[in-house]
Amino acid sequence: MNAHVSDWEIPPNNLIFNSDEVHVWRVDLEMTASCLQSLQETLYTDELKRAERFYFQNDRAHFIAARGVLRTILGRYLNRNPDELRFSYNHYGKPSLVTAGSEDKLCFNVSHSYGIALIGVTQNREVGIDLERIRKDFSYQQIAESFFSPFENAVLRSLPVHLQQKAFFTGWTRKEAYIKAVGKGLSIPLNKFDVTLAPGEPAALLNFQENPQEVSRWTLIELIPGSDMVATLAVEGDRCQVLCWQFLNRGGK
Ligand SMILES: CC(C)(COP(=O)(O)OP(=O)(O)OC[C@H]1O[C@@H](n2cnc3c(N)ncnc32)[C@H](O)[C@@H]1OP(=O)(O)O)[C@@H](O)C(=O)NCCC(=O)NCCS
Repeated sequence: MNAHVSDWEIPPNNLIFNSDEVHVWRVDLEMTASCLQSLQETLYTDELKRAERFYFQNDRAHFIAARGVLRTILGRYLNRNPDELRFSYNHYGKPSLVTAGSEDKLCFNVSHSYGIALIGVTQNREVGIDLERIRKDFSYQQIAESFFSPFENAVLRSLPVHLQQKAFFTGWTRKEAYIKAVGKGLSIPLNKFDVTLAPGEPAALLNFQENPQEVSRWTLIELIPGSDMVATLAVEGDRCQVLCWQFLNRGGK
C-alpha cells in the first residue's frame, strides 16, 4: 500500500482507532519560539537534560519539537495532558508509554529527518517508522555493500544508475522501519534479511534466513511524506488500514 504526499489530511478532533487502523502523523519541526516554548514545558526532566546535550541549537529545537508533539498527539488519544505522560525505554532505547496496565496499549514510533518528523501510532501492535531525505550527494555504494544483503545489493546494481540513489534510500527505510518495529536496534544484522527496493515494488520484508517466521509477522507500507523524501512504516500483523494526518500546531493542545 502507498500513501502519497497529497493524502496527509487534517485530523479529526475525536481520535479513535477503528479496527485495523494505523495512524501516521507528519510534523513540521520548524516552529515559532513561542510554540517551541510551550512544547518544551511539557517535557520531563530526562528529556530536558537530553535536549541540553545537543551541540547545535537547531538539533536541540527539533528534538524538543518532536518530543513535545509526540506527547501532544498521544495525549489527544488518551485524553491526558501531554506533560502527564511517562515513557520507558527498552534495552536498545525504544521508547514506549508507561500505562496503568488494564487499558488498550497505545504503541508508537518516531523518525525525524531534516526538519520533518513522522510518528506512527497503533493500538496493541508494534510499529516502526523510518524517514530519510534522498540526498543526491550521498555516496551510498559503500554503505550498501556493508549493510545491505547480497540479494539487495544485486537488485541495486541491476538498476539503471539514475534510479539507484532513490532505491538505496527506499531500501534503507524499509530495513530501518523493520528493526525499529522489532525494537532491538542494530543488534539485528541489517545484511541478514531482504527487503524490496526496486522502483514500483511494494514495500515488503522478503526473507529472513535465521528467522523465517518474521516475514509473515510484519506488514511494510510505503509512505510519501514529501517530494525528496522516502519513508516506510512497519506494523505487526497482516491487516492494516493507514490514515495519514498532518499535525497542526495548536500550542501544545
Ligand atoms: C533506533 C535507530 C534505528 C534510530 O535510527 P535513526 O535513523 O538514527 O533515527 P530516527 O530519527 O529514524 O529515529 C529516532 C527515534 O527512534 C526511536 N528509537 C530509539 N531507539 C529505538 C529502537 N531501538 N527501536 C525503535 N525506535 C527507537 C526514538 O523515538 C528516537 O527518537 P528520539 O531520538 O527523538 O528519542 C538506531 O539509532 C539504532 O538502531 N539504535 C540502537 C543502537 C543499538 O542497538 N544500541 C545497542 C544498545 S545495547
